[in-house]
Parts: sequence; C-alpha cells; structure tokens
Amino acid sequence: MQSEAFDVAAFARRFDHHAREYSDHLNEIFDHMRERCPVAHTDAYGGFWVLTRYEDVMRVVRDDETFSLRAGMSIPSNRNPGDPPTFLPGDLDPPESFKYRQILEPLVSPSALAALHPFVRQTARELVDGFIDKGEADLVQDLAVPLTAIVTLRLAGLPEADWPHYVAERYEANSDPLPPEEAMRRVMERFAWSRQAFLDARERQRENPVEGGLVARLIEARVDGRELTEAEYISMMINFVVGGLETTQALLGSSWVYLARNPDQREDLRQNPDLMPAAVEEMLRCFSPQPGLARVATRDTEVGGQPIREGEKVFMCWASANRDAAKFDDPYRFDMRRKPNRHLTFGTGAHLCLGRNLTRLEAQICMSEVLTRLPEYQAVEEGLERIPDSSTLYGYLSVPVTFTPGGKAG
Ligand code: HEM
Repeated sequence: MQSEAFDVAAFARRFDHHAREYSDHLNEIFDHMRERCPVAHTDAYGGFWVLTRYEDVMRVVRDDETFSLRAGMSIPSNRNPGDPPTFLPGDLDPPESFKYRQILEPLVSPSALAALHPFVRQTARELVDGFIDKGEADLVQDLAVPLTAIVTLRLAGLPEADWPHYVAERYEANSDPLPPEEAMRRVMERFAWSRQAFLDARERQRENPVEGGLVARLIEARVDGRELTEAEYISMMINFVVGGLETTQALLGSSWVYLARNPDQREDLRQNPDLMPAAVEEMLRCFSPQPGLARVATRDTEVGGQPIREGEKVFMCWASANRDAAKFDDPYRFDMRRKPNRHLTFGTGAHLCLGRNLTRLEAQICMSEVLTRLPEYQAVEEGLERIPDSSTLYGYLSVPVTFTPGGKAG
C-alpha cells in the first residue's frame, strides 16, 4: 500500500479532500487514518474533523439532531448559512426533509423501476450497437454517461434529446483539480442551464399536461397544504436529475477498470450471471463513487472519544468506512459472494440515497450488456482518465477499451 514519494502521515495532518493526492492515494490515506487518527482535525477550508471508522461514521449519520445539514453537505459549503437548500431533500434536516422525500419516493418504487427495466435494457443495447462493430469505445463516455442521463430524463419527464446538457464538462486529461471555489462556480453555472430547462418543462406541462414523470408530480405536490415554491421545485429537480448521474457513471467506470485488470473475476461473473446483484453491491462497497459528505455539530458532543464543539464540521468518509476491517472481513478482497455487505456508499438513516435502486438497475444492466457483448474487452491503460477532484466524486471520466468487433443486436 505504501508508495515512496507520498508522505501519508503528513497528508493526514493537513487532510484536503480536494487535493490531487487524495484521489491518487485514497485507500492509503484512509488506512493510515483509521489506524492512527480515526477522528482527525484538519485546518483546511476553515477547519473540520475527518471520520474514517465505520462506527464513527454511523454514529454521526444516524444522529440528525446533533449533526445537521444546515451548513450544506460539502466542504467548503455548497451554501451560506441562512441560504435556502440547494438540494431538496438532500440539504435539509429531518423531519422537514421527509415532506420532500415522500414526493419523490413513488418515482423510484419497486413497481416504477420494474416498469422502467425494458427501457433501460433497450437503451443500453442501442448504445452498445453504436460502437460494437468498431472494436473500440469509451465505456464511460459512450455508454455510462448517455445511459444514466437518458434514463433519468425519461423518469423526470424531460426531453431525452437534451441529455448532453446535463452531463458534466470534461476536464483536461489528467489535469490538476480546479480550486474548489472555481469548481463549485462551474457546477452552479451548469445548474443555471438546468434551472431554465426545469422552468420551461413546468410551463409545458401546465399548458399541455402529460401523465407521469417528476415534473408532473412536483406540480401536483403539496407541502403543508401548499404548492411548491419555484425555489423548492428547482432544488428538487436538481437533487433528483443532477444528483444521481455522475455517481452512477463513476461507479461503472471503476468497475469496468477493475474487471479488465482481474479477468478471473470477470469470467466468474460471466459464468455466473446470478451473481450480478451481489457483484454490483461489492462494486459499490469497493469503489464508493462519493467518498464522503459533511455535517455540522449543533451542540457540544463527542465522536470516538474526541470532543467536537458546536459549530464544528465533520466529514464522514463512506469510502473509508467501507474498508474498515472491524466491519468487513478482509476488506480489500473483492468478493462477489460477500454476505452481508452493509456498505455505506448510499449513506444511511434519514437521507439514505433515494436513487439507490435506480443505480442498481442501471449498473446491473450495463454490466451484463458489456460482459455479454464484449466479454474480453481490454482497458487501454494509458488512456484512462481519472476525475481530478475526488472530494465528492471518485472514479473515471474516461475508460477507453478495445475488443473484438461484434454484430449489432438491432
Ligand atoms: C452510485 C450512485 C449513487 C451514490 C453513490 C449516491 C450517494 C448518495 C448518498 C451518500 C446520499 C446521502 C447523502 C447524505 O446523507 O447526506 C444520497 C442521497 C440522495 N440521492 Fe443518491 N447516490 C447515487 C445515485 C443516485 C441516483 C441515481 C439518484 C436519483 C435518481 C439519487 C438521488 C438522491 C437523492 C434525491 C438523495 C437525497 C435523499 C434525502 O435526502 O432524503 N442518487 N445519495
């Protein structure tokens, strides 16, 4: 695990989840911190505590009264104190958040996802048809990105042809991360485009109602007996439409790279397709696309024996909790038969990811499509492009592969 040039102890003392080293040495950093300083303080971004053990992360994420979202979910914060939530329900404390969460739940219920299944399968098939005869493709850009975007827009009731607008800009290959404030500014710029598209969709829906879809639901929804305000409508659309795209894309990219580098595992999965749901759970545990999120203490308290004062921020590292040997046997073994597998990749408690079963559906279908139609694909190692800032997203922007050309499924 130890690499020569990187001083993990020094990094842990000035922990910075936006730094390039964080991306490059994520597991090494977390291993060191879980062992030596499981509740560590850093002065970065005004100061915060970093929690790396499963037990400590659980303690915080389950105690919404002591650990609040009122300062936002990221560090530096995605909003100023007193600003309305950027994401609804994701940026609001319970019980208020439940009022918004329950509006979204029917869209991703088991029956809604069962009805969506054929569309996801057909979309994956057509996207693979687009490159299967070429013998080369970028599995993230040519499959994961369009698939997750098109499916989400279908669920939301937005024009599917607009999908490229909802996709993050690509950075220079293997560039350094942008300063966090600049990265946040660009995200907000992208949200501004989406905001207008969401308002236009609401107008169209009002003039010419179409059944189903998120836009229609949000128009009909009532919170405390009243209609949603415009700001609430936008924050809910952003959380649902934009929140789930990049995470699922990142999960798929990391998983494809892993399987290319471990052909025995890939063959095992190909020979035993019934393992797919459990294999996707293990991919979620091992390659947590969202390594961690923040809360702020509402009173003086303690975590893992470390006093935390009111107003101090804590950063819960799901990715580290998922590798904690106190919770998972042999945590670095990729085990498609692992049982139980209670990873924290989707968080837990009041804000447990609402889109988790949609991600599972998309991941299982994309994986099986690739394993069936390009079973011996090879990753082009020198073309792999990591996401440069892994503070909220860990994985690949680009996973070029080569394979024996095949025929279209039609
Ligand atoms: C691999 C894919 C995904 C990962 C790793 C992920 C991760 C998470 C995590 C960790 C949380 C909890 C945040 C917290 O406790 O502060 C969350 C919440 C949420 N996620 Fe996901 N997510 C994924 C996919 C999706 C998808 C596909 C959607 C949309 C369909 C989605 C929509 C949401 C929403 C709306 C919430 C807020 C729930 C609430 O506050 O009650 N996510 N997600």
